[in-house]
Amino acid sequence: MAFTYFFRDLQTLDMICEHALPSLKSRRYINIWDAGCAMGPEPYSLAIVIRERTGYMYFRNIKIHATDLDGSDLFGDIISNASYPWEQVERIPKDIFERYFVADEKEKHYRLVQEIRNAVDFKKHDLLSMKSPGSDFGLVLCKNVLLHFSEHQRIEVIKMFHSSLSEGGFLAMEQTQKLPEAVSHLFEPIVSHAQLYKKI
Ligand SMILES: C[S@@+](CC[C@H](N)C(=O)[O-])C[C@H]1O[C@@H](n2cnc3c(N)ncnc32)[C@H](O)[C@@H]1O
Repeated sequence: MAFTYFFRDLQTLDMICEHALPSLKSRRYINIWDAGCAMGPEPYSLAIVIRERTGYMYFRNIKIHATDLDGSDLFGDIISNASYPWEQVERIPKDIFERYFVADEKEKHYRLVQEIRNAVDFKKHDLLSMKSPGSDFGLVLCKNVLLHFSEHQRIEVIKMFHSSLSEGGFLAMEQTQKLPEAVSHLFEPIVSHAQLYKKI
C-alpha cells in the first residue's frame, strides 16, 4: 500500500542533513536513492529539507533517484508533474509551502517549484529483483517498505543497499526498522534516535 505524506518522519530527514550531508559535502555530485518512494512526498520532502540547509550551487549537484514497484503504473507521471491536491499539502508548514509550492492550473492543486522538481527523478524498480538501479550512492533512504518483506528478503535487500553505496555512504530507514543482526557488521549506527547508518 502506497500510504505516504509530506514531511513524514521529519526527525530522520533532519538527522540526514545534520550527520550525513556534511561528510558527503566534499563530493562533486551527491546521488541519493529513495527506494519505495510511493507517489513522491518523501523524495520531495527530502529535497526541500536539503535545500533549506544548503545554497543553490550545492543543491544543484544533488540528485534523488526515487524508485518504486509502482503497481498502479501512475507514480512516474505524478512525480514528474509534482502537482498535489490541497488535502495532501495543507499540513505543510506555511513558510515552507509558500517557498516551494505554486498554484497549479488544475483546480485546488499545488505544484512544486522547478528547482525542487529538478532534484528528483523516478524509475520503476522492484527491490526484490535484488538488482540495484545504480551504484555509488551517497545515501539510500528506504522507509516503511522493508516491513512488508520476510526476514530473509530484508537481509538480502539491505546487502544490496550496502553494495550500492559508495565508500562512507549512509543508509536511513524508519524509526521502527532495526538493522537485522545478519547485516549489522556492514554498517555503523550514527545516532541513537534514528535508524541512520554509515557503510563500513
Ligand atoms: C507505505 S509506502 C512508503 C512510502 C514512503 N517510503 C514513506 O515512508 O512515506 C510503501 C511503498 O513501498 C512500495 N513497495 C512495496 N514493495 C516493493 C518492492 N518490492 N519494490 C519496490 N517498492 C516496493 C509500495 O509500492 C509503496 O509505494
